[in-house]
Amino acid sequence: MCGIVGYVGAQEANGRPLEVAMGGLARLEYRGYDSAGVALVTADRSRLVTAKKAGKLVNLSEALAAQPLPLATASIGHTRWATHGAPNDLNAHPHLSADGSIAVIHNGIVENFAVLRAELASRGVTLVSETDTEVVAHLLAETYAQTPDLAEALRLVARRLHGTFTLLAVHVDSPSLVVGARHDSPLVVGLGEGENFLGSDVAAFIAHTREAMELGQDQVVSITPDEVRVMDFDGNQVEPRRFTVDWDAAAAEKGGFASFMDKEIHDQPQAVADTLLGRTDAAGHLVLDDLRVDEAVLRQVDKIIVVACGTAAYAGQVAKYAIEHWCRIPVEVELAHEFRYRDPVVDSRTLVVAVSQSGETMDTLMAVRHAREQGAKVLAIVNTHGSTIPRESDAVLYTHAGPEVAVASTKAFLAQITAAYLLGLYLAQLRGTKFTDEVTTILDELRAVPEKIQKVLDGAETIRETARAMASTTSVLFLGRHVGYPVAMEGALKLKELAYIHAEGFAAGELKHGPIALIEEGQPVFVVVPSPRGRDSLHSKVISSIQEIRARGAHTLVIAEEGDDAVLPFADEVFFVPQTPVLLAPLVSVVPLQIFACELATAKGLDVDQPRNLAKSVTVE
Ligand code: F6R
Repeated sequence: MCGIVGYVGAQEANGRPLEVAMGGLARLEYRGYDSAGVALVTADRSRLVTAKKAGKLVNLSEALAAQPLPLATASIGHTRWATHGAPNDLNAHPHLSADGSIAVIHNGIVENFAVLRAELASRGVTLVSETDTEVVAHLLAETYAQTPDLAEALRLVARRLHGTFTLLAVHVDSPSLVVGARHDSPLVVGLGEGENFLGSDVAAFIAHTREAMELGQDQVVSITPDEVRVMDFDGNQVEPRRFTVDWDAAAAEKGGFASFMDKEIHDQPQAVADTLLGRTDAAGHLVLDDLRVDEAVLRQVDKIIVVACGTAAYAGQVAKYAIEHWCRIPVEVELAHEFRYRDPVVDSRTLVVAVSQSGETMDTLMAVRHAREQGAKVLAIVNTHGSTIPRESDAVLYTHAGPEVAVASTKAFLAQITAAYLLGLYLAQLRGTKFTDEVTTILDELRAVPEKIQKVLDGAETIRETARAMASTTSVLFLGRHVGYPVAMEGALKLKELAYIHAEGFAAGELKHGPIALIEEGQPVFVVVPSPRGRDSLHSKVISSIQEIRARGAHTLVIAEEGDDAVLPFADEVFFVPQTPVLLAPLVSVVPLQIFACELATAKGLDVDQPRNLAKSVTVE
């Protein structure tokens, strides 16, 4: 939540600081779009100027075009997801100290802001906004007056703050300096030639550099054109870890598609293929990216708990079926925000798997910390390098989906499922519940999936037509069973988020226990039908469910496997997907549902990349 970018370079003449800040904000806008703002410091130490506007970044761009800012050497920029105070111009960041010498931007929540605000008021400081951030600008100015070293002053202020924060600050007297502090909120450094960058994530600067540095918890960073210095909150110098971003800057562009959402749906064959790439060693054994936990410990694991939120949690639910089947280890899937508040039974034989696209979701991060405190090992499945969750975990399996810019998750979902399958196969191999040739067969089946997804994408016009025809629909239900159940819930979530339509996903077997009361004449219901080649007559049971709802007037939209003609008599509309082994089928069957939601929302004239009220990276609890 809230995107943050900082830049410092040697030259002010070329307008680069503003260009980098605005470009970075465009790439970070998915983190929040209630308002946007920038602050620039001019080289002659004479001016610190700000511009800020409520609403999307385009409003700020228009304001800057109408009233250009002076050239500068340093910039900070912010795109807001409002927490304290309405999303208006006044509450937009940056916030200034009373004398206008310091500008501050902030991601997170300063929980003790009321106390600090009262303290400032008692000293006669008048606050102009309703934000928690403004107190930081004033405290920083007061501290700087005593300790005229911006990084040191920020360190002293940071120690007084409770809650979560990434803060960036600039001072009118230091035109070649941006300082930042982080506590439970993300911040990464981009390393340039004669210039350096700060960003909430690497997307902020990948257009300029792929060399980056990870910052740890409770650290203060100062960047000048030629130097990056980091210290911890106790004032000790720290040597941060460097890494190279493997994302291609072009991957964060729309590439000819009308929206990032549409592009990212089309990126999915690549996302799955890339996540599978290079996972086996010369002997054909699976390897994980970063395993800081003994294999002997993994052999002893007697329970897996997946912690995640939203779409990532549905990926975990899909994984549960595969991991339990392949490894014979019980798998629980828990929403991360519920996990630590229910006193979960976790010990040193529990493997907690944290699934997160951003690697920054606060609920998931807190669940990771809680699990480790209880003695569990934590393995992270994460898409964003340099983020917090992998750094705080015992092992990491990166998804290689590339940058996901649209707020609602699509390609990360498929990559998360793929990575979770890899984890299941890795554990099955390690614990001997599957022979190597069985693992190889499943891997080969997985490698065939990208082509199948491509086939769904190539034949998507029918589902698009259906979506357009249903633009005025007010409620859609989704049914699935076995691995189709989390697919149904993900289909419903996509429709809610993108098209603001009431949608619910149900386990088809649950229908008769209540939800069937919702069925009335014309009610659209998507049904994800399992393969007729699967076990336990599940196929015929789902067909029975379709008959039951159809008999009560439902309009049935059926996702079925190619060749499954048994569905035809019961489907008002049918969308066939290529035959895929049962446990892997969600990678293919969810795609028509994503396309449906995207197309219907587009037909309603909605912004599918930035749905209302949402932020991509939810860094508050
Ligand atoms: C839905 C969506 C969210 C995220 C959830 C977790 O389309 O994007 O439900 O899946 O907020 O985010 P990450 O994966 O970044 O932890």
